[in-house]
Formats: sequence, structure tokens, C-alpha cells
Amino acid sequence: MRTHYCGHIKKKDISQKITICGWIHKKRNIGKVLFIDVRDRSGIIQVVFIFQKNNKLFQLAETLKNESCIKIFGKVQERSFKNKNLNIKTGEIEVIAIKLKIFNYSKKLPFDINNITSKKNKLKFRYLDIRQTNILNNLKIRHLIVNNIISFLNKNKFLNIETPFLTSSTPEGARDYLVPSRIYPKKFYALPQSPQLFKQLLMISGIDRYYQIVKCFRDEDLRANRQPEFTQIDIEVSFMSESKLRYLMEKMISQLWLKIKNVKLKKMKIMSFHESIKKFGTDKPDLRNPIKLFDIHNFLKKEFIFKDFDIKKHRIISFKIPNGMKIKSQKINLYVKEIKKNNVNSIHILEIKNFTIFNFHTKKIIFENINKNEIKKIIQKNQLEKNDLLVVIYGFSDLVNKICAKIRDIIARDLKIINSSDWSFVWIKHFPLFKKNNKNSFSSVHHPFTSPLNNNIEELIKNPKIALSNSYDMIINGQEIGGGSIRIHKKKIQEIVFKIIGLNKKIQKEKFGFFLRSLKYGTPPHAGIAFGLDRITMLLTDSKNISDVIAFPKTTSARCLITGAPHYLKK
Ligand code: AMO
Repeated sequence: MRTHYCGHIKKKDISQKITICGWIHKKRNIGKVLFIDVRDRSGIIQVVFIFQKNNKLFQLAETLKNESCIKIFGKVQERSFKNKNLNIKTGEIEVIAIKLKIFNYSKKLPFDINNITSKKNKLKFRYLDIRQTNILNNLKIRHLIVNNIISFLNKNKFLNIETPFLTSSTPEGARDYLVPSRIYPKKFYALPQSPQLFKQLLMISGIDRYYQIVKCFRDEDLRANRQPEFTQIDIEVSFMSESKLRYLMEKMISQLWLKIKNVKLKKMKIMSFHESIKKFGTDKPDLRNPIKLFDIHNFLKKEFIFKDFDIKKHRIISFKIPNGMKIKSQKINLYVKEIKKNNVNSIHILEIKNFTIFNFHTKKIIFENINKNEIKKIIQKNQLEKNDLLVVIYGFSDLVNKICAKIRDIIARDLKIINSSDWSFVWIKHFPLFKKNNKNSFSSVHHPFTSPLNNNIEELIKNPKIALSNSYDMIINGQEIGGGSIRIHKKKIQEIVFKIIGLNKKIQKEKFGFFLRSLKYGTPPHAGIAFGLDRITMLLTDSKNISDVIAFPKTTSARCLITGAPHYLKK
């Protein structure tokens, strides 16, 4: 039907007769000459209708409205000097219309494309929003990312294999989406939270290297980087060490950044979970942020306010606010307010001058009992310089970690001390195997198929609280984009892990009998990882919200505004 995409017509096509199809982007009538910008997915080209050349054609073109869908046959010519627009790719040329076919007129769009407050309407009419906005560009980049990853994995002998959607639950810590069965009344399938168990079964099948770009479904609270229905780049390998797998994955991600962003990444850092929590209060640190946390209980616990300090439960953390003395005190007060919301025991904003510690607000000396040597160490640890302020927070470790991680981000953003053109990649390894849940029993930090770091069974049974897992997450600029682990490949260890998380023999059989059975048939050592394709695309398109990289996303309350789903069940 067409010879060219609008955005691909070039100066070399001048004098050529071409056919284009697309939508009316803009129309300008300057008397007897009509300029129409025609748009398709590749860009825009200006088409000119001249009354004196063909008055019938001119009159037909005059009836067109924005967003009408048309076909044009015409001749490419160079624009006159004053009409050139060097801001667009095709700005030096135009098409003189010879024929016009109108496929369909369009109603006025139901939203103003330049008004971001019409977000709800934009999602309802997403197919129109995609026509004109940066979403289209994001989808093109997403396509490049997928192609690039597929070609990397194919080159590295991975097999692309699909796993079922109508199946049983794959526990990843969220609730399941359920699908009622017509044939078995009252019974349900669960949509997969990930293909975890099926990809492990494929290793038992001898597939050796598997991948799948696959939809996953999780019913959980949504955030800027979470959707109920999202896409994973899911990977599993047999007979490969953890370091080799991470090396391959690092290579895959690095070549992606090179291709899409033209950025050459350095070798990724590796940090243990515990080190990350200690230094940054989080297992998703943004290493571009120079603010670091330092424990200073050795210097301060003797102070009267910290007399109930217990190193197993509490932390006394210090960190600096670079050039904090130059910040308005109202801002500092806002930080204090934010910190206090988190029920920490105490918070101090301090100035240190001449080896004496002052309260920033009252300007009075505080912590008089600390000697100069200790103050010197505090200064050194925090690399305090002139005009820096020191924040000291004391409280239960979990609360202190949480607020320090958050406030560290807020301060860095306010002070603009993060170089946003930089990339921070880090592997966080060796997460705890279990965490205590609300019912005071254990649950898995990753999923229950993650191998303990130390395969000493007695130790695991005796002290599950301190067991570490052979796991690794990839963090980019403070966002988790992928996570995986070495898997348990011994039935006995799998049963012990199930038992620790409260699954008795009966439940183990009911829920995971098929999997325990499969482990009896010569299971190879295997490992894997899954990346969030949507999150990778967000980073590579500089998008702030996951919905900007998905063609038809759900709202934050998990609704599909196009179809109105979810619906009541029809009897
Ligand atoms: P995990 O649960 O860490 O691991 O998920 C892997 C990656 O998927 C992305 N992700 C999400 N993206 C958007 N919306 C969501 N709701 C969402 N949830 C997760 C994240 C995350 O790093 N089966 C294991 C992987 C394995 O062990 O191989 C798993 O699913 O980027």
C-alpha cells in the first residue's frame, strides 16, 4: 500500500514519487496552500496541497481533521529556505500531494496529549496515547532490548522454552491470581508468579540452558516499579558455577547498555547483604550516593541516653550531611521529622568544631564525655569536612536501617550529589535464607528452592536464623533488576527447608509432592536468575514509572481501564 514510512523519506528521495500512509498530526491552512503533517510510527513528513494545482484535491484535504487516517501519493521536493525545520529529521523536504485517499476521519481525541493530568483518560484510550507520545519510543526501545537479549542467549546456547500459565502456585511471596476451572467446579488454577519450578524441572530434563521472556502474575501492592502482570527474562542453567553464571549475566547486561545507551560499564561490584545493610541500610543501595552509614556505638553507647543499647537489636548510626550547615534549618527540621516518623529512639543533628560536639539546633555542647580521640575517629570515619553536619540515629536496627536508607536518598536528591548520568551496578550476595514472619515462624527471603550457602544440615536445623543463602541480586542505581540463586538439588535439604518454613510432611506432599518426587531422578546441580524486563526498560528509557514502558498497563489499583476488568463473574 505504501512505498515509504513518513520519517524515513530523505533528501536523496527528492523528485521521487512516493506513497505514504498515516495520521494527520497537524494542519495549517494559509489561504490557497494547505500544509499537513502526516505521522506514522517512524515520524512526520510535511505534505503540501496547492489550490491552484488541483482545487478538487485541495478541497478534499480541507475536510480532514487531526488524527484522520489517510494515504497520500505525491512527489518529494526540497522545502523553500524559509520553510525548513531543522528540528525534525524530514525538516528539509516535503511532499507535494498528487492523490489523497481518506481511510477514516477521526473524532477529536478524548484527551489533551500535552496534559499529564489526564492520565486516567490516557490509559482508557491508551491506543491513542501510544500514537503520539514517548510511550511509542519506549516500546521501540523495549523491542530492541528483547531482541538483543534473545540474540545474546541464543548465541550462548540457551534454549527458549515455554512453561504453562494454567498451573499451581509458584511461591514468590505474593498472592496468586486464580483462574476457576470449568471442568472441575470449585477448583482453581493459579497463574504463575514466576516459572520457578518448571524451569528447575527442565534442568532435571537435561535442557541445560533455558530462557524464556515470560509474563508473571503477582497480586501485591503496586508501586512505581511494580505491575501485577509483568515480564521476566527468566534463565536457568545446569552444571555452571555461581561465578560463571553471574559473569555471563553481567556480559548480557553490559552489552545491552552498550547497545542502547552507548555506555561501557565497568566490572560490577560485589557486596554481601550484610555489608550493604551496614553501609547503606538497604539491600538495594544506590552506590552513586556518596553518603555512607557508620556504626558509632563504640563511642556513644556509654552516653546516658543509650544505656539500654543491645548490639543484637540496636544500631547507633552516624552519617554526614555534606555542607549541611549551609542548608536552611527548616529543611533540616523536615529531615528530623521524617526520621522521627519511624519510631527511632533518638535522633541528633550535630556540628563538630574543635573536637567538640554541638547540637545543631540549640548550639549547646552535647556528649561531653566523649574524649578527643574518639571524636577524631568519628570525624575520620565520616570523613567530616568544614560545614558538614553529622546525623546520629539510635533505635531498633530494622527501623534505623529503613529510615537511614530512605533519608540518605532524600538528602542526596535535595543536595543534588548524585551524578544522574552515572550508572551504579552491584551484585548483592548471600542474603539470609529465612526471615521471621508475623506469626513468628520462618519464611524464605527469596523462595524456598534457594540453596543454603553452607550445606551443613545439622547447623541449618539448629540455627536457621543465621543461615545464609547462595543467592544474588543485581542492583542498578538502587533498583533491583534481577535476582536468583543456586538451587537446592538434594531432596533431603529441600525437605528440611520446607520444614523450617512450617510445611509439615502432609502439606509438603500436597503442595510440592511432584517437585520432591522429581528430585529423586538424578537432579543436576543447577542455578538461575530472573530479570525484570519492565524495570530494565525503565532504566534504559529514563522512565519514572513502569506503566510508561508497558503497552497496556494496569492502574495502581490493578484495573485495566481499556476493558474495565476485573468484572463480576457471569453466572
Ligand atoms: P524475583 O521475585 O526476585 O525472583 O523476581 C525477579 C525480578 O522480577 C522483577 N519483578 C517485578 N517487576 C515488575 N513488577 C513486579 N511486581 C515484579 N516482581 C518482580 C524484578 C525482580 O528482580 N523465580 C525467581 C528468580 C530466580 O530465582 O531465578 C524470581 O521470580 O526486577
